[in-house]
Amino acid sequence: THVVTEACINCKYTDCVDVCPVDCFLEGPNFLTIDPDECIDCAVCIPECPVNAIYAEEDLPKDQLHMTAINAELVKSPNYKTLTKRKEPLPDHEAWADKTGKLPELKR
Ligand code: F3S
Repeated sequence: THVVTEACINCKYTDCVDVCPVDCFLEGPNFLTIDPDECIDCAVCIPECPVNAIYAEEDLPKDQLHMTAINAELVKSPNYKTLTKRKEPLPDHEAWADKTGKLPELKR
């Protein structure tokens, strides 16, 4: 599967969803997650993300390995729904784009 990492938190640019051939992204309040049962590992979403939040699971940076389980967990959250069309990013996306350690901000 592919995995959305912490870089997405509080940005949520959503360019990724426009190119996904299997509509495997779900949108939450301040993050998008990938359904690991739907993702076909095509990788077309990777270059679309302005903050490089998406990785193939086997290529995840060491400090983002926890995000595989979090992506899978959020698929089951009632606050996450399928998103297939790009929308405006979150209002403070620019301020958050370069930040790291955003996990405490994640709304599940
Ligand atoms: Fe998030 Fe990047 Fe998609 S910020 S919503 S993974 S384009």
